[in-house]
Amino acid sequence: MGINILGMGRYVPEQVLTNDDFTRFIETNDEWIRTRTGIVSRPMAGWEPTWYMGKQAALKAIENAGIDPKDIGLVISTTATADFHTPSMASIIQNETGAVNAGAFDLNAACTGFVYAMDTAAKFLSTDRDMKYILIVANESLSRFLDFTDRGSCILFGDGAAAAVVEYSDKLYSSVLGSEGAGGKFLYARSMQVAPEVACQPPEDFSSDYEELPLHKLHQDGKDVYKFAVQALPRSFELAAGKIGVTKDDIDWFIPHQANIRIIETAAKKLDAPMDKFIITLDHYGNTSSASIPLALSESIDKGIIKRGQKLALIGFGAGLTYGGIIIEY
Ligand code: COA
Repeated sequence: MGINILGMGRYVPEQVLTNDDFTRFIETNDEWIRTRTGIVSRPMAGWEPTWYMGKQAALKAIENAGIDPKDIGLVISTTATADFHTPSMASIIQNETGAVNAGAFDLNAACTGFVYAMDTAAKFLSTDRDMKYILIVANESLSRFLDFTDRGSCILFGDGAAAAVVEYSDKLYSSVLGSEGAGGKFLYARSMQVAPEVACQPPEDFSSDYEELPLHKLHQDGKDVYKFAVQALPRSFELAAGKIGVTKDDIDWFIPHQANIRIIETAAKKLDAPMDKFIITLDHYGNTSSASIPLALSESIDKGIIKRGQKLALIGFGAGLTYGGIIIEY
């Protein structure tokens, strides 16, 4: 079993926040952000809801794939920042794109969402061979969940969407999905829908300041997430690669989750793989959660950096704490 990416599309909001822009409301500076994260600027949704960005990316992916949206059998939307609890982003996008014959559901594996969705799609396509195409849409508006008084987290994230139309293929394929739920306390945002007067008991070991945290804002223990990330990225590759006897030398491009350049550099060292095999777009997108890997992929395909026939390793990590990797041939 395997998967072929027929076409991709992306959408990022026009509004951009540079590192210097943050100096207007928090104690920070461009040099600190660049050297600690590699991020220079990030797109921020203004009027655009999450589903709208997803729809724009999806329409481009459908156009680039050259397919009739009526032939899409399933829409999977990955998001940790949905506009609604119900309906799903996927159902909205299914309607907006004319995918009238598709089922639709959202998938939340935080920043690892696209990897999870690709693997889910590969398995759907291999067990239901009547399903022609699946549309995967990664759409995120992290800015709506950021605490803009917390300088350790608000500078990291950006908004955007990227989508892929995929079909069954018997090309090279391997995957691993993982989760270390004990680390959930290191990166979380409470639900917006919980009324403040209703006691929402957190899991036992969530932070002691849980009750004081602003409702639905992102809480992050940066150092703990960092420690997890630098081992989760190489592990995701090694576990997926080990299943099919592939080594890092067989891989043309690593497309890691775009959270922090230092995390990616450390992962590259652990894998003993050169940094010039790693696609980097975090400088201009920041961390766009589940949209980060497909944004990097889509941009690199359009620039002619990633070419047909090349072997790709998509490796991610995120809240959960989740991790995962897939190895595919483009
Ligand atoms: N500007 C200036 N100074 C800042 C700052 C900012 N934006 N954010 C934090 N600092 C300060 C801290 O207050 C601290 O000051 P102190 O020494 O006076 O207490 C100092 O910089 C060092 O902070 P520290 O947290 O140790 O920095 P760090 O090197 O660990 O980098 C992160 C912080 C958040 C960049 C890093 O931990 C990280 O990237 N973690 C992973 C986060 C992530 O990837 N999340 C998403 C996962 S999907």
